[in-house]
Parts: sequence; structure tokens; C-alpha cells
Amino acid sequence: MEHHQPSAARSYYDERYWNDIPAVVEHINVQVSGKPDTEWDAHFFARLGRAAEHALILNCGNGAIERNLYDQGFIRSATGIDISTQLLDEAAAAAGDRPLRYHRMDVNTADFPAEPFDLVVNFSAGHHIACLDRVFRELCRRLPDDGWFVSYDYVGPHRNQYPHDLWFAACRVNQGLPEAMRQTFVYPHLPTMIAVDPTEAIHSELVVDTWSRYFVTDEYRPVGGAIAYPVLTHNDDVIADPARWTDEIAVVLAADAELIQGNPSAALFAYWAGTPNKAALEQHEQLARWTDEEDARERTAGASGGGDWADPCGGNPGINANVNAIRRNARDTSPPKAERT
Ligand SMILES: C[S@@+](CC[C@H](N)C(=O)[O-])C[C@H]1O[C@@H](n2cnc3c(N)ncnc32)[C@H](O)[C@@H]1O
Repeated sequence: MEHHQPSAARSYYDERYWNDIPAVVEHINVQVSGKPDTEWDAHFFARLGRAAEHALILNCGNGAIERNLYDQGFIRSATGIDISTQLLDEAAAAAGDRPLRYHRMDVNTADFPAEPFDLVVNFSAGHHIACLDRVFRELCRRLPDDGWFVSYDYVGPHRNQYPHDLWFAACRVNQGLPEAMRQTFVYPHLPTMIAVDPTEAIHSELVVDTWSRYFVTDEYRPVGGAIAYPVLTHNDDVIADPARWTDEIAVVLAADAELIQGNPSAALFAYWAGTPNKAALEQHEQLARWTDEEDARERTAGASGGGDWADPCGGNPGINANVNAIRRNARDTSPPKAERT
């Protein structure tokens, strides 16, 4: 089966996101760890109480994640996997003499590297994976009983096709801001998204549900983003001079936090961690059903170029069920027209 691959032209490190704003980083830290200066990794390893011996870094990109984990003493070594030769070359060059190894592979189809690992790190990777069931099942099998899987990822609607009521909630917050900092709201255009990067948010709302089949959740922290991400991401004026907009950024983040408090399933981003549930690997009939379901979904998505994967979560309620219910209600109407504010 042919799987989507990122377009060679896609650059993951040139665009400016909401977390390029220091106040947003503090906000995310509070959602994850309760402390503005404690990031997800420090939080996770404090809870674990030890360093990991060898980490497998999914879709590692330019390797910044594992360099950072190693430099802080959180991991003793790591293997990064990615499909991009260019990014792997960058990662290997930047690794210097750190014990970091790299393998080029398509995460959806290849066998994971043979060396043992006691930690899997999914940082912004799962939302680029098509065959989530296959990947999470295999990682459950490969991790030792006392191994861990930690994630910080986009878990919102696939292809950023936000539910209409959340999109308009973000539009309303945006409208209340001074004109000079307002975002230009343009609803993500599906064909453009698929053309630019067919792996982007391919089945993002399935990431947590599918992961939960094979792992016991230790912590799940909805981070938010439904309001603040569309208002602040690519908002170049604000990102260039966040100090000028301190109060307004605080208003946006407060609206975001309020929304997530009332509806945690609406979070676009989440942090979570857990341990392998080896018993899941014994449920052979269930595993066969999940394989068939995933194969059928990927055949449909592959045949249509990835564009008609309209009902990813039908009959699959889970942690994102509220968002999915909203999406199901909205599906009969066409996406909102690009709205200029
Ligand atoms: C959003 S980037 C995240 C990179 C890195 N985790 C980080 O946070 O800096 C997504 C990564 O997924 C990789 N990717 C996309 N499809 C892939 C596939 N089928 N197999 C392996 N890697 C893939 C891309 O090359 C890219 O490096």
C-alpha cells in the first residue's frame, strides 16, 4: 500500500507558531506541569525519577528534541527515525559526539531499529503517522514491561478542519483584539493542506484513542489551543514583538484556558504518558479487526489522495469524542468561507 510522504518542499522549521511567544510557552507549561518554568520533559522525567537508557524518537526531524533531552541528562542515548534524508543529515551533524543514532525509515511500514529502547518519545510526530494502530501496537510489543511512552502532540481535528463552533469562538476572540494585532482568519483549505504536506494532521484525532489501545495512561493533560492557536500562529506582528501585546496575549490565553476547562476534549494539543499494556497484544480477534479497519481506511484515503477521509471517528468515541460529535454535526455544511476580520 502506498503511504503519503511529506513533500520535499515542506519546511518544518521556517514557520512561526503560537509557541514562539514566551507567554504561550509558560501557558503550555502550566497546562502540562502546573508550573510556568517546567516544560513537558522536565515534568515527565521528574515523575519517572530516573534517566532513560535508550530512547526511540519518532519522526525526529532535525534532532533538536533528543539533543535537548540528552543535554539535560534525561536520556543516556537515543535513536531517531524520520523519512527525510535532509533532516536526518542535519540531526546527525548537529549531534556531534553525543550518543545519538539515526535511521531513515517510513514509520508506517518499516521495522523499527533492532536496538532495545526503554522510552518512546512522540513530540509532534503522531499527527504525521497514517498507520497509528500498526505503529503503536509494534511499540507496545517492543518496549519492556517497565518502558514508557511520552507524547506532546497535535491531537485536534485531522487536516486542521476545526469544528465550526470552535472556529467561530476563536474568530470572536480575535475580533475583540486591537486591529493591529488581529489575525487574518482563513479556514484551512483542505486541498492546499494535502498538496503542501499530505502527512500533516493526517489522522490526528485518532492519535490518543489508538494509543490508548496499547498503553496504560499515567497522565493525560489537555493543553488547549482551540482559541489561542489560530489567533497567534503565523501572527507575525505579535510573534515579532510579543512584549507590545502582553495584556492582549493574556486575554487570548485566558479564553483558551476557559474553553478547555469546560471542554477538555476540544484541546488541539495534549501531553500524555504511559506504559505498555502487554495484555492488549493477546486479544488476537480484536487486533485482527483493528488491522482490517486501518487497512480499509488507508486504502480509501490512498485512493482519494487523502482528501475524502471524511469520517475518521464515526463509531469510535474516545477522549476526543466531544470534538468529534461537534464535527459530525457540522459535516453536512461546507467549511466556513474564508473570513477576513
Ligand atoms: C512536525 S515535524 C516534527 C519533527 C520533530 N519531532 C520536531 O518536533 O522537531 C514532523 C516530522 O515527521 C516526519 N515524517 C513525516 N512522515 C513520515 C513518515 N512516513 N515516516 C517517518 N517520518 C515522517 C517529517 O519528515 C518531519 O520531520
